[in-house]
Amino acid sequence: MDKKIEKILELKEKKKALVLAHNYQIPQIQDIADFVGDSLELSKKSKDAPSLLIVFCGVRFMAETAKILSKDKKVLLPANLAGCPLAETITAKDVLNLRKVHPDAWVVSYVNTSAEVKAVSDVCCTSSNAINVVKNVPTKDVIFVPDKNLGWWVAKNVPEKNVILWNGGCYVHEQFTLEDLLEARKKFPDAEIIVHPECKKEILERADFVASTAGMLKRAKASAAKTVIIGTEEGLLHKLEKENPDKKFFSLGISRTCLNMKKTTLNELLASLEKEIYEINLEEEIIEKAGLALERMVKYV
Ligand code: 13P
Ligand code: SF4
Repeated sequence: MDKKIEKILELKEKKKALVLAHNYQIPQIQDIADFVGDSLELSKKSKDAPSLLIVFCGVRFMAETAKILSKDKKVLLPANLAGCPLAETITAKDVLNLRKVHPDAWVVSYVNTSAEVKAVSDVCCTSSNAINVVKNVPTKDVIFVPDKNLGWWVAKNVPEKNVILWNGGCYVHEQFTLEDLLEARKKFPDAEIIVHPECKKEILERADFVASTAGMLKRAKASAAKTVIIGTEEGLLHKLEKENPDKKFFSLGISRTCLNMKKTTLNELLASLEKEIYEINLEEEIIEKAGLALERMVKYV
């Protein structure tokens, strides 16, 4: 066994650490993690984990979410600079301004936001439960931030609500084009096209299935199609191929990479376990306020 992997396993055991990894992490990290999943699954795992040390292989908003949901645990983010440009498209001040314009609306913030934005939101959601969360808010007007594509998808599926959107988007998913989809249909007429709701509207309208990364994995397994085209970050291919050796998977167009998700390598994970870096620290008030919005979120599937 590789020396680095041996050391990671040894430290993990010694410190009773729980290593969580998002579905977009590199294969070596996915293979060594205790659990690999989508944002909602990882939020729930960190909240319910008996372990007092959580090492979060993903991006900052995910590790912050884990900290807020389990404030007495030590949460580490091995790649200190792994941010999410989508989360950076909105600030807490922007949300407060939106609230002034739409005083009767509830604010639903996608989990891909800073802890400060969550603290001024009524409820959070992930791509896995966004439709259900918005369906259940008590107001007709709903401010949905920051992803306009996911927001559009939610509005289409919850026509009874008046959904107010923010103009944010994910640079990875927005690279998939309608031409990619039309080409894929021509090239693989029997394939099923499964995409993430952060893709642009014209893709969401024409795909066969739209879901979070965990939902995409579930659908790919259940589908009768032997060829599946995926419209999301290429890291998901690892688990798809591992779980479905009888099927073929291709990225829509060319594969697209989230650079921040690739900042965690075995080196970062080892250093994180060794030195207990980089710890997530948030102000108590932010934890309390954001905690309310996140606790509401985890109640919905
Ligand atoms: P999931 O919650 O579907 O895994 O998505 C997270 C994400 O960052 C998508 O870009
Ligand atoms: Fe953020 Fe997009 Fe990367 Fe997801 S894929 S972490 S939304 S930049």
